[in-house]
Amino acid sequence: MATLEIRDLHVTVEADNATKEILKGVDLTVKQGETHAIMGPNGSGKSTLAYSLAGHPKYTVTGGTVTLDGEDVLEMSVDERARAGLFLAMQYPVEVPGVSVSNFLRTSATAVRGEAPKLRTWVKEVKEAMERLNMDASFAERNVNEGFSGGEKKRHEILQLELLRPKVAILDETDSGLDVDALRIVSEGVNRVRETGEVGTLLITHYTRILRYIKPDFVHVFSGGRIVESGGAELADKLENEGYEAYAKLDGADTKGGVSA
Ligand SMILES: Nc1ncnc2c1ncn2[C@@H]1O[C@H](COP(=O)(O)OP(=O)(O)O)[C@@H](O)[C@H]1O
Ligand SMILES: [Mg+2]
Repeated sequence: MATLEIRDLHVTVEADNATKEILKGVDLTVKQGETHAIMGPNGSGKSTLAYSLAGHPKYTVTGGTVTLDGEDVLEMSVDERARAGLFLAMQYPVEVPGVSVSNFLRTSATAVRGEAPKLRTWVKEVKEAMERLNMDASFAERNVNEGFSGGEKKRHEILQLELLRPKVAILDETDSGLDVDALRIVSEGVNRVRETGEVGTLLITHYTRILRYIKPDFVHVFSGGRIVESGGAELADKLENEGYEAYAKLDGADTKGGVSA
């Protein structure tokens, strides 16, 4: 059983010639097969946590540890993290001009699996995964995220998730900007991968809406750069009713606006 262990993680970012501490001691353990929802107001540091785990160079780890199966993740390059089984679906997926979805997926799968997938089974695998996500076959020939709608970008992230089969998947606001139909399709994709029991899922979200489709085993409230409360699925109901205001004391987090949409 793979386990991601985050201990007392501190992360800074350079902004306007100043160093700002964003993560202020995050503690979290995610085991393969478990689903954890991280919920928090805008600006609380949720994406910073996701990027730091994936190894984004803008974020400097100044303290704490992250291990996957006891291996030091912070020592690994971005590629090594992916090969070790970490996957990040970004809140704002980036365009990759000149690289088709089909090439991108095959290159990623080759890197993660350590060998190129056999062409015939691979083509079938991709085709079937795209059909399950209601993606037209022509999608494979388009450049990654170029001109994709919000829903298409998120479906493409889940397509990667289904094909790459990570040990731990970090899904950063995969629900944002989706209409009800797209939300259902994307959630079904996440649930298919979860049902294998082989992935630990870290579902980062501002809103409770996606939790109607993806039932978390644990819910954590994130505020001011750390987890301030943890509980079961019932904690999401409490947030839906009471919002984030109760947690507002911590640095300038934007707790206005509801948590349900
Ligand atoms: N690359 C960056 N450069 C400057 N500031 C950043 C950067 N990334 C995050 N921050 C700041 O860190 C804080 C947390 O941001 P973020 O992690 O995106 O929060 P969330 O995902 O919870 O909305 C915000 O104040 C944001 O402006
Ligand atoms: Mg974010």
